[in-house]
Amino acid sequence: MSRIKDSALAPHGNQKLAWVQEHMPVLNEIRGQFEKEKPFNDKIISICLHLEAKTGYMAHVFQEAGADVYISGSNPLSTHDDVCAALVEKGIHVYSWYDIDADSHHENLHTLLDVRPDIIIDDGADLISLLHSQMKDITSVKGACEETTTGVIRARALEREGLLRFPVMAVNDAYCKSLFDNRYGTGQSALEGIMRSTNLSIAGKTVVVAGFGWVGKGLAMRARGLGAMVIVTEIDPIKALEAHMEGFQVMPMKEAAPRGDIFITATGNIEVITQEHVLSMKHGAILCNAGHFDVEVDVKALKNMAKPRRIREQVDEYTIKDKKVYVLGEGRLVNLACADGHPAEIMDLSFALQVLSAHYLLTHTVDPRVMAVPEAVDRAVAERALRALNKSIDTLTKKQKSYLTSWKHGT
Ligand code: NAI
Repeated sequence: MSRIKDSALAPHGNQKLAWVQEHMPVLNEIRGQFEKEKPFNDKIISICLHLEAKTGYMAHVFQEAGADVYISGSNPLSTHDDVCAALVEKGIHVYSWYDIDADSHHENLHTLLDVRPDIIIDDGADLISLLHSQMKDITSVKGACEETTTGVIRARALEREGLLRFPVMAVNDAYCKSLFDNRYGTGQSALEGIMRSTNLSIAGKTVVVAGFGWVGKGLAMRARGLGAMVIVTEIDPIKALEAHMEGFQVMPMKEAAPRGDIFITATGNIEVITQEHVLSMKHGAILCNAGHFDVEVDVKALKNMAKPRRIREQVDEYTIKDKKVYVLGEGRLVNLACADGHPAEIMDLSFALQVLSAHYLLTHTVDPRVMAVPEAVDRAVAERALRALNKSIDTLTKKQKSYLTSWKHGT
């Protein structure tokens, strides 16, 4: 059973899956091993992630490893109907379609939990939070793997309140995830989303990046690389200082608002760009968000000021007094709403971590807590990636090993 838009789209979806598979060598290597060993035999995996080709391929790898896979998109604008159709053809249970309404999405998430999954793969902790708030029987769940910063924050809040009932692996926090996916992945794909949806130049513009965490660093770096002047806003003094040392201008959003041409939020927080900020912006300012939820740019407040007019695909124009401002992708993740998300090579690392973390949870007994991805798993992904890139590195000599573990030298 599946609920999708159009099964006739499968051939196009298969083309997309084949393309990403070609560029996800680490996942391919794991697939080669797991399709023989079938470690997920008889297990049910429920996945709620941005449902495009890279995610689709990971779902297929789980299936090849023996699992019965149920999947839903995590955002109405990031689901690819053709990929959904291709996955259904492969026997995966898909509950998602592009531009889904909130009630249907909620219903789909319930379906993913009603099948009593062994493992949950979550993005933003939607399934985890739904399980804890509304559904009583979670005895089937061995654990969950969380993909993003915002989801880890929500899982930690459950843990802090003593409510967490199964282990949650903070896949987001692994080195092979946040260093590459949050930083380089979002850096490239968010800028790509802005360029695709507007067809305007980044060079010569002032780009304001809100938040200088992993995602913000990638955005600022890539915007500068494309010739923009970059302003960073922060609330953390250390991150703010880091941005200053990187050569970016640092100031509060109130001061940045009248200066920026393009605004990108990446804080995981709410109301980072408010009505007050928008009122002081230039005519033509472009606003978008790269954080997980669509609450960073206060689009609701904007809608109270003016009725949006769709003027290009994923570009809404708001006429406020004598000026126009533009919101991309309705304030949802710009890299997924206005482009295809992170590059395949980057998601290769993130999804390799997901598959290996799920395998770890299945094969170990872990208390209900938010746990780090074991260092050995993180390093194994980096080693596999280097191997796929045909890169070798030095190894420590015996003498070096002893030097690095001794307190005696130099005395
Ligand atoms: P992070 O925790 O490393 O960075 C967030 C930064 O925002 C912190 O430095 C924090 O001090 C700052 N911040 C918080 N409130 C602020 C405010 N009001 N004004 C200015 N700065 C503020 O988190 P990370 O990994 O950079 O993720 C940020 C968001 O992006 C999260 O919601 C995460 O889930 C999401 N994300 C999105 C991706 C995408 O594909 N678009 C990929 C990875 C993460």
